Amino acid sequence: MSAESLLELVEQAKTARLRSIAPFSNFLVGAAVKTAAGKVYTGCNVESASYGLTVCAERVAIWKALSEGERDFTQLAIVADTGTLTPPCGTCRQIIWEFCKSATIMLANLHGETQIVTIKELLPRAFDARFLSGAAKEAPRT
Ligand code: THU
Repeated sequence: MSAESLLELVEQAKTARLRSIAPFSNFLVGAAVKTAAGKVYTGCNVESASYGLTVCAERVAIWKALSEGERDFTQLAIVADTGTLTPPCGTCRQIIWEFCKSATIMLANLHGETQIVTIKELLPRAFDARFLSGAAKEAPRT
């Protein structure tokens, strides 16, 4: 997976970020997820006056893609305007683990700084469907 194509995805996440609806936090986040076929779905955070209903940019992008029938993701870019690159929140980490496990994740800010991270390092010893099915009794910790 080329670094160039990840940087293109960052640009798309930056554009999505500008569509954020964040009147309460003023914290704008953009995300873009790419499928194995090369299609890109973007998302921005959408806040509600009932704060707990707020949805993060990452999940908006992933929900959009999943609801269009996509299941195979190769890249995910997340952009926020912070000096220390913003990682996905805990809820998003769970969703990324379940639906974008093999995607290369790039965190980025508006100053051109980027970092590649893996969901495994962000969410070690994750819970998933294997525990519900009983398969985790035999499966190693991955
Ligand atoms: N937010 C995201 O969209 N993604 C993250 O990874 C962290 C937080 C949003 C949620 C809320 O609208 C705002 O940032 C402040 O938490």
